[in-house]
Amino acid sequence: MSHFFFFQDIGSLNMKDKLEALLGEALSELGAASTEEGLQELRVKYLGKKGALTGIMKGLGSLSAEERPLVGQVVNTVKGKLEEAFDSRAVEIRESVKAARLSAERIDVTLPGRRRAVGSKHPITLVTEEICAIFAALGFAVAEGPEVEHDFYNFEALNFPKDHPARDMQDTFFVGENVLLRTHTSPVQVRTMLKQPPPVRIIAPGTVYRCDSDATHSPMFHQIEGLMVDKGITFGDLKGILTLFISQLFGSDIGVRLRPSFFPFTEPSAEVDIACVICRGKGCRVCKETGWLEILGAGMVDPEVYRHVGYDAELYTGFAFGMGIERIAMLKYGIADMRLLFENDLRFLKQF
Ligand code: DAH
Repeated sequence: MSHFFFFQDIGSLNMKDKLEALLGEALSELGAASTEEGLQELRVKYLGKKGALTGIMKGLGSLSAEERPLVGQVVNTVKGKLEEAFDSRAVEIRESVKAARLSAERIDVTLPGRRRAVGSKHPITLVTEEICAIFAALGFAVAEGPEVEHDFYNFEALNFPKDHPARDMQDTFFVGENVLLRTHTSPVQVRTMLKQPPPVRIIAPGTVYRCDSDATHSPMFHQIEGLMVDKGITFGDLKGILTLFISQLFGSDIGVRLRPSFFPFTEPSAEVDIACVICRGKGCRVCKETGWLEILGAGMVDPEVYRHVGYDAELYTGFAFGMGIERIAMLKYGIADMRLLFENDLRFLKQF
């Protein structure tokens, strides 16, 4: 430490040693300080009012008048060196803290983003949309009606007289006297015809309710109703349009057959079967070895219905049809248990 050599000349070894030791100690502590707080503590320890250097300066008084200015000058040099060292260490610490923070907060812009899981449409929605699109292309408009329905629209106007046994076919949830949860979408036929004169060409998708629950029945399910009324509509039109519809939904090679049936609001009535989509008609568990699957009820609108809505049954004829959407979705997608459609299990829903 060359700047202390003249102490030896003036014999103030004690003072010089103290200062030398102090500077060395301070510089090494300073080098080890790694935080701004730690550094500030050291600054107080060495340069503060009660600090080590100040202590030495206070001792200057005991020196001779000759030695005092010389030692005082050295004290000042040491003080200057220390202040400089503190300042430059402070900059170093600030830089390294900043560098650490920057590297901790670093964003890797090449990382793939967090993808939002994209939902998919429920199979019931998919089938409903597909069926509506097929009929839209044939000029059918979509109509709607309420799910809480009056007995008049759900039964009476559809030629289910009060106490008629045909009402037993549909296990009805009653809400109040003459008010019920609609058991089918057929009341939309009545509402539409009461609202507009013929010609009519509508389909009505919607939710319906029946007091019934097992692997193939749900108390809440979906139907699509169809109605076409105009002058000169025949059973041939019914068969033609439904055959076209089925070939578009299930493929043009699927077999179709009509069986005589009964519904109070159609006469004659038919049930429409398609060849089993599983065994293609050979006979299997799904079609109960018959080779056929029933998918639709249909028929020519009964004149009694026209009477209720004020249509002239001598002038107009038409056909109606109704189908369960769950059943069609199950056949189309090979779903064995209807309850899967309502459990909202993502593992199931993700497949569509
Ligand atoms: N509404 C009937 C049911 O739920 C289905 C039905 C059959 C609708 C024949 C029709 C039809 O429009 O003509 O069982």
